[in-house]
Amino acid sequence: MAILVIWASPNMDGLTAAAKDNVVKGIMAAGGVTEEVHLNRQNIKQCLTCGDGWGLCQAEGRCVIRDDFRALYEKMVAAEAVVFVTPVYWHDLAECLKGFLDRLRRCETAHNHYLQGKECVLVACAGGTGLGAIQCLSNLEETLRHMGMKAIERLPVIRFNRDYMLPALNGAGQQLVKYLQNIFTK
Ligand SMILES: Cc1cc2nc3c(=O)[nH]c(=O)nc-3n(C[C@H](O)[C@H](O)[C@H](O)COP(=O)(O)O)c2cc1C
Repeated sequence: MAILVIWASPNMDGLTAAAKDNVVKGIMAAGGVTEEVHLNRQNIKQCLTCGDGWGLCQAEGRCVIRDDFRALYEKMVAAEAVVFVTPVYWHDLAECLKGFLDRLRRCETAHNHYLQGKECVLVACAGGTGLGAIQCLSNLEETLRHMGMKAIERLPVIRFNRDYMLPALNGAGQQLVKYLQNIFTK
């Protein structure tokens, strides 16, 4: 089983990518297996609010739109844990992550409940003032909590802390593997 790392940013060499790389290196250093999904390269459309506002998501736990949503949902269900890494935009998550979670939440809370108790690590990267990084993490956690997912760490990376936070993300990746080994060997 792999730890799924879902990240979003249009910049392949920006702060979000650097944060993601450090978590991935940490996971691998501790002997974990990772799979990365770059959301900006996925074709995931926004919810159509089909039917009367409730569509197939409520009745059958699946979405009518044919795109990359379903495959990513299945990866999340299969993953040992999920790491989310997002830039902070307007004190909030990247739009592509928000759009994915909007559709996921409908299928999960209305029908499936496959992700109940799934552990996750949340990372928000702000290159500006840093204002909104905590709110971004809080918004992300609230959406995941609505689906019964369990955040075990929340990490803001801002201009002030990036020099010590990027190495700390490596530590977070390592710690996640140790944490998962502990729960799976209990
Ligand atoms: C549309 C937009 C909105 C942003 N909003 C915020 C913000 O609310 N707070 C903040 O500190 N930085 C904000 N930023 C700065 C980004 O969080 C910062 O550049 C981040 O590092 C982007 O990640 P990247 O290096 O992967 O592009 C914003 C940037 C963009 C493009």
